[in-house]
Formats: sequence, structure tokens, C-alpha cells
Amino acid sequence: MPGPLLGKVAFVTGAGSGIGRAICRVMSRDGAHIVAADKNLASAQETIATLGSEALALEVDVSSTDSVAKALSATLDKYKRPPGVIVNSAGIVRDNYFLKMPEKDFDAVYKVNLKGTFLVMQYFAKSLVEYKKTGTIINLSSIIAKINNVGQANYTASKSGVISLTKVAAKEFGKFNIRVNAVLPGFIDTPMVAGIPDKAKEAALASCPLNRLGKPEEIAEVIAFLASDKASYINGATIEVTGGL
Ligand code: NAI
Repeated sequence: MPGPLLGKVAFVTGAGSGIGRAICRVMSRDGAHIVAADKNLASAQETIATLGSEALALEVDVSSTDSVAKALSATLDKYKRPPGVIVNSAGIVRDNYFLKMPEKDFDAVYKVNLKGTFLVMQYFAKSLVEYKKTGTIINLSSIIAKINNVGQANYTASKSGVISLTKVAAKEFGKFNIRVNAVLPGFIDTPMVAGIPDKAKEAALASCPLNRLGKPEEIAEVIAFLASDKASYINGATIEVTGGL
């Protein structure tokens, strides 16, 4: 049976680790050509080494206009068209209490999580419009945008901003038949969560009815569904994948 993403090109940021890597694997299984983009090129190369379908690894810093523009042109060089699936999974945390948070840590998180998502959306959607192609964008927000975690003012604000970008873009891009959605994961077992202090992790598990961390693949499967034509009427949605947190 043909995969639901057969023939599509999927551009995934943060593809060298955790959820981004799982997205590449699941979308490759579903037939997509993968462009695995990450600040850490070696880790993006590791991701594509395990894939069954044709793939390209790229170095990108999503917070840099130049770097995003270069990633787009490298993708166009290879596939002769913009990717029809764009996933913003690159993200960082710099946790601290509000009154102790250094300005540089606020800026760093804002630049990658919020501005980075904006830049990739803008460059890649513009290219879809120029090429008269349809497409779909999926942004990684977080359930933290709704539950507002102590010690994560920067991260929470950035992920709330990602929901706003998603909803505005869904309204503006609808006329080009470009769907835009956000996924809000709960606590997922990746290197990002491995850095959380044990006490905070226990508290997160205690508030999760399924009483376990999610697996990166459990997020990736939902994102692959949203990227497929099976989700053709889902636009501007925020989908929680949290185990009921
Ligand atoms: P991770 O830390 O395992 O992977 C993040 C990847 O992003 C890394 O490969 C890193 O090199 C890359 N990256 C960092 N800065 C970058 C930049 N400027 N340009 C390009 N790539 C960059 O994180 P994980 O857990 O896979 O998270 C993926 C996304 O899901 C993030 O946006 C995160 O905020 C979000 N998320 C994660 C949750 C979790 O529990 N793990 C929960 C909710 C949301």
C-alpha cells in the first residue's frame, strides 16, 4: 500500500534529536523524502543514516535569516520545488525563576523557539506561494503554553507565541491552500526532558493520568497524520498530545 506521504518532501528542523528525529523516521516510513535540518549537522546526518527513503541533511540555525534562506535554497536545488511539509521542531530551554532569569536566556529562547519558527514559516510559505504549490506547516508548541510552568517564563511565552503564529498564519495562508497547525506535547522522553531536575519530572509524572513520559514516536505519528491528506480539513488547530496531563 502506498504511504500517506508518498512523493512529498518534508523539511524538519531540530531533526538531529528527540521529537524531530522521530518525525523524520515516521515520515520516511510513510514515503516522504526527508530534509533533516539542525544546528548540529552531525546529528542531522546521523538521523538520515537510519532512514529508508532518500534524504538530505542540512545545517541550519533557525534564528538566522541567512541560514534559513540558505536551507531553503539547498532544498530547492535538490528537489526543484519547495517542501510541501514543513515541521518546526527546533527548540531550546533555558529555565530559571522569573526574578533570576538573565536577559540573555530570555533572548536565546525567544530567538530559537519563536523567531526561528516565524522565519522558517515565512521563507518556506513564501516559496510555496511563488511556486504555486500547496503545503502544510506543523509547529511544535508545548502544553506548557497552557499550564504556564514556574521557572519557564521565557519558554512558556515563546510557546504561546508559537500558537499565535500558527493561528494567524492559518488565517492568512488558507487562501493558498497551505494548512498550519500546532502540536502541544506533554512531557516526552527526549534529551530536552532528560535535563529537567528529578523532582520536577516526578511532579510531571504525578499529574499525567497515563503516569509515564510520552515517546517521541507518539508525537511524530500525530504530526505525520497532520501532514497527510487525511488531515485535509484540519487548519489552525492546536492538538494536545500529553497522556491527559
Ligand atoms: P531536543 O533537545 O531533543 O532536540 C532539539 C533539537 O533542536 C536539537 O537537535 C538541537 O540541535 C536543535 N536546535 C536547537 N537550536 C537550534 C537552532 N537554532 N536551529 C536549528 N536547530 C536547533 O528537543 P525535543 O524534546 O526533541 O523537542 C523538540 C520540540 O518539541 C521543541 O520545540 C520543544 O520545545 C518541543 N517540546 C518538547 C517537549 C518534550 O517534553 N521533549 C514537550 C513539549 C514541546
